[in-house]
Amino acid sequence: MPENYKFADEVKPTDSLVRLRGWIYRIRTMKKKIFIVLRDASGLIQCVASKEELPEKVWNNLENAAVENSIIIEGKPVEDNRAINNVEVHITDFKFIHKGEVFPISKDQSQEFIRDNAHLFLRSQKAVNIMKVKASVLRAAREWFYNNSFYETTPPILTGSACEGGATLFSLKYFDKTAYLSQSAQLYLEALIYGLEKVYSVTPSFRAEKMRTKRHVNEFWHIEGEEAFVDFEGNMNIQEELVTYIVHYVLENNKKELKALNRDTTELEKIKTPFKRITYKEAIDILNDNGFNLKWDDDIKTEEERTLSKIIGEPFFITMYPAHHKPFYVKIDQNDPKWCFSADLIAPEGFGEIITGGQREDDLETLVRRIEEEGWSTEDYKWYIDLRKYGSVPHSGFGLGAERITWWLCGLDSIQETLPFPRTRNRVYP
Ligand code: 4AD
Ligand code: MG
Repeated sequence: MPENYKFADEVKPTDSLVRLRGWIYRIRTMKKKIFIVLRDASGLIQCVASKEELPEKVWNNLENAAVENSIIIEGKPVEDNRAINNVEVHITDFKFIHKGEVFPISKDQSQEFIRDNAHLFLRSQKAVNIMKVKASVLRAAREWFYNNSFYETTPPILTGSACEGGATLFSLKYFDKTAYLSQSAQLYLEALIYGLEKVYSVTPSFRAEKMRTKRHVNEFWHIEGEEAFVDFEGNMNIQEELVTYIVHYVLENNKKELKALNRDTTELEKIKTPFKRITYKEAIDILNDNGFNLKWDDDIKTEEERTLSKIIGEPFFITMYPAHHKPFYVKIDQNDPKWCFSADLIAPEGFGEIITGGQREDDLETLVRRIEEEGWSTEDYKWYIDLRKYGSVPHSGFGLGAERITWWLCGLDSIQETLPFPRTRNRVYP
């Protein structure tokens, strides 16, 4: 018997004997045969036990086995083209690691029940496949940044001021002061470019958004880049390169998972740079040509985004928003101050915004005025304003939601499925 354990997906019909460990995914007990599908991190493998060929003690154990018991199986792989990966293991020995209690999750449970039992549901094939795709998204992003000479940095999560507006701030008692959970690392990344020029971070971000939608959660993972000496256009080039890299990395490395999730990848495979760019004004015109009745200053909301995304049929940027639609840090177009250098990247197939980015205001006076217009104290932002006082440079950056892009790539119903423990208005348990 080999000393080491094999993963389910490594087993070949030509192997002599193998030893496997994992959990019982499925079990069917007959008079003289027991079929077990064993699950481990690599996938599933079918195993079969015959009463006649096993010592009585081993057979008795097998008869007591149930779904999600943790087990060790030893056996001989045999070719079988009805089985997963065309291989079936004929069991020669079987042991419990932990027999345990009856597993409470079975098929056809309500979403609510699944969320209450998220800690157990994470073993499901669906959850595992999504988490594998998400791991690839994070890995591909880091790889792309590394290949393009960005430094990974570690901005704080506990902060003293808002980045994305006061309405969605979570506040907490910080000794005798009030602090907030970070909404975005952006302002800190802006400070970091003065030493490192091209930086990124992957951090949790928090938004106290009260609404329940399929694309909002209250805690998400934010992949943010910030670049010195890069303008609005250059920033979009970086985003489209990064997103294209992630998409193709996942297509290449997660074929099995996407297939299991029933993701039709036809549209994803077509994705290449450059992405279309349309201005906010053009977006409003397209929408009005398609049954909407919008004025030039109206918001492009979820429904509008979804419509545009279906019409255009590929990832695209909406650029040059009305200045007052966007936060204080976005650079104003000095030629026509109605507009600002902000862009949203919209994913196709109705998934909508996955990135917001843009050029940052580097003019000291305009920045101070914009902070005052928000009704905030310039004292709280003194450090941020300082960045425009000593060798200010044009710079740009963006934030990509790891859950938004995973949601799109997996083609899921709700973004909540991309988080092992999603945080929503009604839930901080488990
Ligand atoms: O559009 P947002 O709010 O932009 C910023 O935070 C900028 N400061 C980023 C930057 O320039 N560094 O958030 C950026 C992205 C969104 O496009 C979306 O992908 C994701 O973060 N996001 C959320 N994802 C899930 N649930 C939420 N409630 C999200 N809010 C933002
Ligand atoms: Mg946005």
